[in-house]
Amino acid sequence: MDDETHTGEVVAFPSEGPRPRAVRPPRVLAIANQKGGVGKTTTAINLGTALAAIGEKVLVIDLDPQGNASTGLGIDRKNREYSTYDVLTAEASLRAATLPTAVPHLFIAPSTMDLAGLELEIGHTRDRAFRLRNALAAVNSGGADDFAYVLVDCPPSLNLLTINAMAAANAILVPLQCEFFALEGLSQLLKTVDQVREQLNPNLTIHGIVLTMFDARNNLSGQVVADVRQFMGSKVYDTVIPRNVRVSEAPSYGKPVLVYDLKCSGSEAYLRLATEIIQRERQLTELQAS
Ligand SMILES: Nc1ncnc2c1ncn2[C@@H]1O[C@H](COP(=O)(O)OP(=O)(O)O)[C@@H](O)[C@H]1O
Ligand SMILES: [Mg+2]
Repeated sequence: MDDETHTGEVVAFPSEGPRPRAVRPPRVLAIANQKGGVGKTTTAINLGTALAAIGEKVLVIDLDPQGNASTGLGIDRKNREYSTYDVLTAEASLRAATLPTAVPHLFIAPSTMDLAGLELEIGHTRDRAFRLRNALAAVNSGGADDFAYVLVDCPPSLNLLTINAMAAANAILVPLQCEFFALEGLSQLLKTVDQVREQLNPNLTIHGIVLTMFDARNNLSGQVVADVRQFMGSKVYDTVIPRNVRVSEAPSYGKPVLVYDLKCSGSEAYLRLATEIIQRERQLTELQAS
């Protein structure tokens, strides 16, 4: 870690001097589902953009070797000097790997294909599950560039990368695609969350489930929404993300859909989701304070 400015500083403060400002860690949400193609990356990019548009400072961490979140936010491969691979192997700090995006307040720690080999390299180490948590511990320093939210885009697998995300997160956000097999795999995901809670991260919660790619013309979509709401109750966000071609076009321009077409139904839905998440966050912090 290259960030030495705030280690040990607190004890060194003279008792008469100004009190050091408490460093507020970011809220860390892991966007996870071991199924591919359910909308994890799309949600990381567009929820991140929507939260940034509301004025929150947001860091997207790309933990998928495919690097779709990085590409979708317009980061060229050649500009990825440091990546999340370097962060998880402790070669670089998270700040060193963080790049600005074209969206004000929105930053990304990009990934590269190197990440696919991480498990072989660190799988035998004692702190293998805590690499991301350790890196995140130093990301905020009490200054103006502190992050309010960190969104971790997980790979489509329950591997060591996803475990690192879950061990570092305050809560999990699960995208579920409105299709016939939506609930298949959810119980395995929830079981993994339980195991991580027991063994690695006692405070981990499920923030919510977001239904994606809803197609109003398809009766099945409506049935899936009803089934998931019955099964998961209030854990399911009110906001449902519609299937919208603008959402799928935007990444090829290296833009979030909110930048590509602010008025389309997909952009509006992600803005509503951001509002809902901030409301849930307020309720959670009020609960914790009371
Ligand atoms: N709301 C949506 N409407 C239309 N296409 C979508 C929507 N959400 C995601 N997609 C598309 O579906 C595919 C899978 O989404 P992605 O976010 O990459 O899933 P994951 O990260 O879970 O693998 C991508 O091509 C993406 O553009
Ligand atoms: Mg993805």
